[in-house]
Amino acid sequence: MSEPLAGRVAIVTGASAGIGRATAVAFARCGMTVALAARRLDRLQVVADAIAADGGRALAVQTDVAAEADVRALVARTMETYGRLDVMVCNAGFGVEGPIEAHTTEAMRRLLDVNYMGTFFAARAALPIFRQAGRGHLIVVSSIVGRRGAPYVCGYAATKCAQVGLIESLRAELAGTAIRVSGVYPVSTETEFADVMHAASALETQRPTGPHQSAETVAAAIVRCVRHPRPDVYPHAGSRLLPLLNWMAPQVTDRLMHRLGRKPRDDAR
Ligand SMILES: NC(=O)c1ccc[n+]([C@@H]2O[C@H](COP(=O)([O-])OP(=O)(O)OC[C@H]3O[C@@H](n4cnc5c(N)ncnc54)[C@H](OP(=O)(O)O)[C@@H]3O)[C@@H](O)[C@H]2O)c1
Repeated sequence: MSEPLAGRVAIVTGASAGIGRATAVAFARCGMTVALAARRLDRLQVVADAIAADGGRALAVQTDVAAEADVRALVARTMETYGRLDVMVCNAGFGVEGPIEAHTTEAMRRLLDVNYMGTFFAARAALPIFRQAGRGHLIVVSSIVGRRGAPYVCGYAATKCAQVGLIESLRAELAGTAIRVSGVYPVSTETEFADVMHAASALETQRPTGPHQSAETVAAAIVRCVRHPRPDVYPHAGSRLLPLLNWMAPQVTDRLMHRLGRKPRDDAR
């Protein structure tokens, strides 16, 4: 059954750029109210102003998702301002590239803090509100590398797999209720992600040669998931076969990922 979207309130983390920004704009176009969260308040305000100019409602809240107090304040401010929360999109994240030896301990800890703990804090802040309302939708933007690891992103992929463990456990706990939990598994998406990844990494790699998609394609898939809740969302249709292939033939999948995935700069065969 299709869920009506108009009048519903969503929080989108990582809404200053890329997939989060596209999702917030797409939600607003469907009549949803959005609270936009990220560290760069000026960028959030530009998105909020564009939504308001289009007749929508949006609130910009400066948030570092790795800081639990910030995430609690984000949820509290959304409730104070709009009086309800229907959808929490845990999207904020970044990557680190290179072989494991080039992953510094500091970078690995920050990956866990932002990608995993940021998701954990947001889920833990939203769920009591959903339980009280008897309904709600938690959406976590993981990655296709959370369903099957890829070369030269071992630290990043580990955090994306950790999100999958959280998603599946919560979904099992909440089975039979009207609280939905969904995982989103994008392939390479044209956003600022690659530039941020280079800046956060000690070594650069060659970009993967597998399939690509736009942030708007991922956002449209997230909107469809809110309208028609489903457990797993693969915005690139063919990519849902990857976990299946990995289950049936892991070594064949290793070779496929080796061929299509990232390569060190001096090994661009
Ligand atoms: N692009 C891809 O190829 C791809 C593929 C699969 C999955 N994903 C996932 O999609 C999500 C969005 O990535 P994207 O491609 O849209 O990248 P992006 O364009 O770099 O956007 C990342 C967003 O996350 C925010 N962010 C980063 N660290 C944050 C923090 N500590 N607290 C709050 N916000 C933070 C950034 O805002 P501020 O810098 O202003 O804080 C920005 O709004 C990520 O979880 C990523 O892992 C991306």
